[in-house]
Amino acid sequence: MPTQPRNSRPAPWWRSAVIYQVYIRSFADGNGDGIGDIAGLRARLAHLADLGVDALWINPWYPSPMKDAGYDVSDFRAIEPLFGTLEDAQAMIVDAHELGLRVLLDIVPNHVSDQHAWFQEALAAAPGSRERARFIFRDGCGPEGAQPPNDWRSTFGGAAWTRVTDGDGHPGQWYLHLFAPEQPDVNWTNPEVREEFDQTMRFWFEMGVDGFRIDVAHGLAKAEGLPDIGALAWPPVDAEPVDHPHWDRDDVHEIYRGWRALADAYDDPRVFVAEAWVHNPDRLALYIRGDELHTAFNFDFLLSPWLAEPMRDSIVASLEAHEGVGAPPTWVLSNHDTVREVSRYARPQGVRELRHLDDLLDLPADFAIVEKRARAAALLMLALLGCAYVYQGEELGLAEVEDLPEELLQDPGWKQSGHTLRGRDGCRVPIPWSGEEPPFGFSTNGAAPWLPQPRSWQTLTVDAQTGDERSMLELYRRALRIRREHPALGDGAMRWIDAPDGALAFAREPGFTCVVNMSADPVPAPPGAELVLSSGELTADGAVPADTAAWFGTPGAA
Ligand code: GLC
Ligand code: CA
Repeated sequence: MPTQPRNSRPAPWWRSAVIYQVYIRSFADGNGDGIGDIAGLRARLAHLADLGVDALWINPWYPSPMKDAGYDVSDFRAIEPLFGTLEDAQAMIVDAHELGLRVLLDIVPNHVSDQHAWFQEALAAAPGSRERARFIFRDGCGPEGAQPPNDWRSTFGGAAWTRVTDGDGHPGQWYLHLFAPEQPDVNWTNPEVREEFDQTMRFWFEMGVDGFRIDVAHGLAKAEGLPDIGALAWPPVDAEPVDHPHWDRDDVHEIYRGWRALADAYDDPRVFVAEAWVHNPDRLALYIRGDELHTAFNFDFLLSPWLAEPMRDSIVASLEAHEGVGAPPTWVLSNHDTVREVSRYARPQGVRELRHLDDLLDLPADFAIVEKRARAAALLMLALLGCAYVYQGEELGLAEVEDLPEELLQDPGWKQSGHTLRGRDGCRVPIPWSGEEPPFGFSTNGAAPWLPQPRSWQTLTVDAQTGDERSMLELYRRALRIRREHPALGDGAMRWIDAPDGALAFAREPGFTCVVNMSADPVPAPPGAELVLSSGELTADGAVPADTAAWFGTPGAA
């Protein structure tokens, strides 16, 4: 059981938590093989406690052939040997709890690895068998069943179906994989699948884990009969959501109602956060109705350009949708699948949905202003009501590594797109801790990390930034400390304040105002305000300059 959580507000901790995302293979390497692991994480937990976050979410650490960086799980109730052992995991959870940090794991219910015992059994079994019914096997179309059963595409490129070879050497049925061919989708209409995942969650809950991030939460339900997608676009181009045959189908909700009941059965209830890429905040809100999941990542905010109007519209839409179901919003600037915000905001303002590196590479970048924007975005995110996620390295102001050599790229999207999409490796480079040159303390013995770090990270290591009041790390530390202590921040309400074009301003009670300037002209501070923290220097007459956010204490505070 966790000791007293750091966040001691009376509302449940998860309504206002700041959660740090640990991409384990790139966080810290404890055994010197160039790959992050549990020993490395354990040794660096103090950094997270010091930073002032409430919880960590650890990307999949289960045994995996690593065809999709651990999202191809071959055993959900064990630890990948590269990362350590179950004993290491247990000890890490105890340490984290002692430091007041909650621990969330990543559960991957849409698919398993093709090396998972279930899939191996399915391959060995006949069409129509109990073993195959755990997956989505179908006969092919056309002469000899040589064509895939339908037109669905893999998220990483190519068909979403792969044909198996039967024991006699003849081509057999096809199986569905919405991601890599090594990630067969499981069949959520099968009660055996449900039972298996319930048991997995109980296994970890009983080990003290505080909750799960749910991978591809919008993908579990497939339309009956697996109809073709045809010309349906995803995400939908129109205002209205579409009846897509495998994304965001209403049938997923019944699954999550079951999961909520399971989590609520514990004395210290366990929590969920959904990774659901859906069409709009209203669709997202369906996942977090009172009897479903607690929270969901708010990707609408992540995808918003650095412009006041769309940013404000996105925040308003999220707040309204969340309020309708009584769930706290989450605010996310980046994660292991998206381009780091430093690199997104360096690109022209007004471009929405810069999610993939390849969308960005041809756009001119202005790195002179960008650090300012990422700093301002952090203060905006942490002042909003609800929860916030910090992806490792965000607190150091790391940019996407845009020029990794092609021969080192590991994202399955690189191969599956026929080497046209560079994929997500650029946001997954091991983070810098100390020292003057790579591996910057990532590996204790100086081993080369699994992806090379830019030399320019020398000034961005945890050590280099510690104590430098102008650094991103110290900005995060201060902001998180204030957020924790200030009664207006975290869960609660907020009220918009009139602001000049290009700026956002909102108040939180008691006595707190946040001003974010996304325009070129300075924006005056609220009357009588006292500066609490700002992402850059204010002008001589106390106004908030371009690309800057400032927190003010405002008079009239209770
Ligand atoms: C999620 C993960 C991503 C993974 C995919 C398939 O989107 O965040 O990294 O590739 O699911 O599991
Ligand atoms: Ca290691």
